[in-house]
Amino acid sequence: MQNKSPESKTRRSLLKAASTLVAGSLLPALSNGSAKRYVPDLRSGTSLCGTMMLVTGGAGYIGSHTCVELLEAGYDIIVLDNLSNASRESLNRVEEITGKKLIFIHGDIRNQTLLDDVFSTYPIETVIHFAGFKAVAESVLKPLEYYNNNVYGSNTLFAAMEKAGVKKIVFSSSATVYGQQETMPISETASLSHTSPYGHTKLLIEEMLQYQHQAALRLDSSWNIALLRYFNPIGAHQSGYIGEDPKDIPNNLMPYITQVSAKKRPYLRVYKGYETTDGTGIRDYIHVVDLARGHVKAIEKLQDSSGVHTWNLGVGRGYSVYEVLNAFQEYNHVNIPVQEEGRREGDVDICYADVSKAEAELGWKARYGLEEMVRHAWVWQQKYPDGYA
Ligand SMILES: NC(=O)c1ccc[n+]([C@@H]2O[C@H](COP(=O)([O-])OP(=O)(O)OC[C@H]3O[C@@H](n4cnc5c(N)ncnc54)[C@H](O)[C@@H]3O)[C@@H](O)[C@H]2O)c1
Repeated sequence: MQNKSPESKTRRSLLKAASTLVAGSLLPALSNGSAKRYVPDLRSGTSLCGTMMLVTGGAGYIGSHTCVELLEAGYDIIVLDNLSNASRESLNRVEEITGKKLIFIHGDIRNQTLLDDVFSTYPIETVIHFAGFKAVAESVLKPLEYYNNNVYGSNTLFAAMEKAGVKKIVFSSSATVYGQQETMPISETASLSHTSPYGHTKLLIEEMLQYQHQAALRLDSSWNIALLRYFNPIGAHQSGYIGEDPKDIPNNLMPYITQVSAKKRPYLRVYKGYETTDGTGIRDYIHVVDLARGHVKAIEKLQDSSGVHTWNLGVGRGYSVYEVLNAFQEYNHVNIPVQEEGRREGDVDICYADVSKAEAELGWKARYGLEEMVRHAWVWQQKYPDGYA
């Protein structure tokens, strides 16, 4: 007789998804109840390390680049993404780049039943948590949506992890948790604050994880937590197969530049009036592939490091808007029309990271410079002018 409970319905759809996506290789493990001991063979060869990761939001910009690095490092991965700001196609390209398979589950981190089923079905060791909304300006207009998706979503995820006994997590935090700082570069010990609902959600999620670890300590247990504070990821995979694909008018500098260069927008607005040599804001731009590699390093570190670890991921120096723009024009032999405007409210003059802690503790350092960042962004835009559409 068929069980009609909602749980088993979700589980049945997971089974179906797994069977279509991995050519049946997971089915025996799922149906005989021994999923926790099962090391799936997702590719043509066997798993290198047999360690399975759950990547929430893995179809997005940073997530897809990180999936490439994870697969290449030998991890098996399950991507859970509701595709609210991404396309399934990005993951097809990840598989194409790596020649390896992943499992995709189309779902939401706020769906507790689904999460419980995912954790009970697959032998997940570590969660890499990208899923969330990320636009500062939008968060000011739609704060409740941001708290719901980012904070409630993370809370649901962490509760499912606790229930399943999964205690290792890498969380996508942001330099926004530093608010406005007077002193540069910004180290991990700088004061924390926020200037937008988005920044507040990141801070709340960091704090939730801190308290969760403290609670575990009281029970003689612990969580292994990496809070990765990203600065400004730009660029694309060197193959040009995956990159940033904004659904709307780009909020960030690089996709705006590439769209103007591709003649999809008439000119670039450059905001001036900042206390810098050329009057434009200075930010710490980091190649998205370097950022992705930072996740692999953090996962390695978490294997034997309990507690909460915070690492800045940036390059450790700032570039002004004109430096980025000039590099883009010079290395890609293009001309970008510009319209200068006054400074934007709420924007800081200069922001860049002290990356010495990540260098010392993770053995990680950004490899790519501005030249690769602008070249790779343009390769992606030219190869796929309409992104994943
Ligand atoms: N891009 C940046 O400049 C930047 C800087 C600092 C921090 N971050 C953080 O890094 C993470 C990834 O950023 P990104 O640039 O790749 O963004 P992105 O929008 O490209 O990726 C986020 C992914 O999460 C998915 N998602 C959103 N809500 C979901 C939900 N409830 N359930 C399941 N999936 C959901 C989206 O479909 C998308 O694929 C975000 O948490 C973001 O806040 C990004």
